[in-house]
Order: sequence, then structure tokens, then C-alpha cells
Amino acid sequence: MTERQPFIAGNWKMHKTLAEGKTLARNIRDGAAPGRRAEVALAPPYTALAAVAQELAGSDIRLAAQDTFWEKQGAYTGAISPAMLADAGCHYVIVGHSERRQHFGDTDATVNRKLTAVIAAGLIPILCIGETQAERAADQTLQVVRRQLEGGLGTLKPTTGTGLVVAYEPVWAIGTGLTATPEQAQTVHHFIRSLLREFLGPVAEAIRIQYGGSVTPDNAVTLLAQPDIDGALVGGASLKPELFLPIIKAAG
Ligand code: 13P
Repeated sequence: MTERQPFIAGNWKMHKTLAEGKTLARNIRDGAAPGRRAEVALAPPYTALAAVAQELAGSDIRLAAQDTFWEKQGAYTGAISPAMLADAGCHYVIVGHSERRQHFGDTDATVNRKLTAVIAAGLIPILCIGETQAERAADQTLQVVRRQLEGGLGTLKPTTGTGLVVAYEPVWAIGTGLTATPEQAQTVHHFIRSLLREFLGPVAEAIRIQYGGSVTPDNAVTLLAQPDIDGALVGGASLKPELFLPIIKAAG
């Protein structure tokens, strides 16, 4: 069986000023014990990327961005390219988050363009997929997840397991306090792994699949114990060291 290093990432969303972000990053850097098994990444808002990068310099905590645009540069007011994110010190870029799909018009096609550009810039995408409450109620979860994964990846074929991360985030569990049960999550993660095998071949065994949606220190241990749950993409709880650090610890 392939050993996958657990991966815990904090998505700060639209939170934290520069000063607050630096303090939070420092507290997490100092509190995340060396010798831990889990890889850790922080995704602050664009405005705090460079400052957080400075706080993380010399530590093994990675920097991540929350989104990007696919062009390298040009007249695209408001947009940030993968090359700019690399320059700011990013290692990972979240693409296709449900909040981007819901509020900013991201589609499987634009998510694919972003994913392609992120990989071309030498960064690693964290591809978010997940069904809404209505889709789950209509028994369409697996269908939606397949469409989003297939559409997001397109013809991309990462050749190493560490070149891609997938995050399963059921939309109904995000910020609601409603977590998928470990069994519900494992069922979908197992399905995602089988799709990755179908689309990408044996490299699927090494790709980390994170769970996201109301992850807390209380539910992290049982979620992370599932065979196909390789980490967590944490929103609200990543804004508080007293919640985020125990989640990192839960991953070993
Ligand atoms: P919450 O942990 O706040 O539910 O957010 C999850 C999420 O959307 C992470 O990307």
C-alpha cells in the first residue's frame, strides 16, 4: 500500500489583516511540533501572502493561495497569475473552491484552465469538488463529483502523486457545522480514488485526497482514520491556533 503523507491546509478565506495574519502564521509555525507526520499549508488572502511567507521562512509550513487566473500577465484587472503566486512564495494553489463556483462564476472549464496554468507554473493545485445539499438529496453526489473531477482535470495527467491534491468538500458541510460522517466521506473519497485510477492510472494511489467541511479537533481524528482520507482542508477552525493545531496533531 502506498504511504501518503497526511496534508492539513488552512483556508483563511476573506479573513485577517496583515498584522492579524502574521500573528496567526507565527502562532501556527511555533505551535506545530517539529517531527510531526503531517504536511501543513496556510492559504491567507492575497494581501497577506508575502508577509505570511516571511513568517514561514525557515519552517516546513507551506504557503498556498486561494485562487488564481490562468493568464501569465496582461490587462486583467484584479487578477493574479500563478507566476505571481510562485514569486510570492506559494507552493500550492486552491482551485475550484465551491465559493468561487457559487459567487465568482467558476465552472469546470475555467477550473481546468486554472489547474493547467498552476501546474505549468510549477505549483501544485488543490482541486476542490463536492456536491450541494440538493444534489445529495437527489442522489447525485457521485455523478457531480465525477463531472467536476473529470472536467477539472481535462486532459491533464500529473505523473507524480505529489503533483496534485484533491479536496472533497461537500457544499452543505462548509461553514455549517454539519460534517459528513466518516463513513459518508470515506464512500466519496474511495469513489474519487477509483476515478483518479481510471483517469490517471497507478499514480492515483499516491494522490492526497483531503476532506473539507466543518472540520474540528473533535471530528478530525475519526475522519483522518478513514483509509482514503489523507488530510483536511480547514476553513473556520484554521483561523484559531487552539483549533487548528489539534487538527494538525490529529493527523499524526
Ligand atoms: P469550514 O471548515 O469553515 O467549514 O470551511 C471548509 C472550507 O471551505 C475549506 O476550504
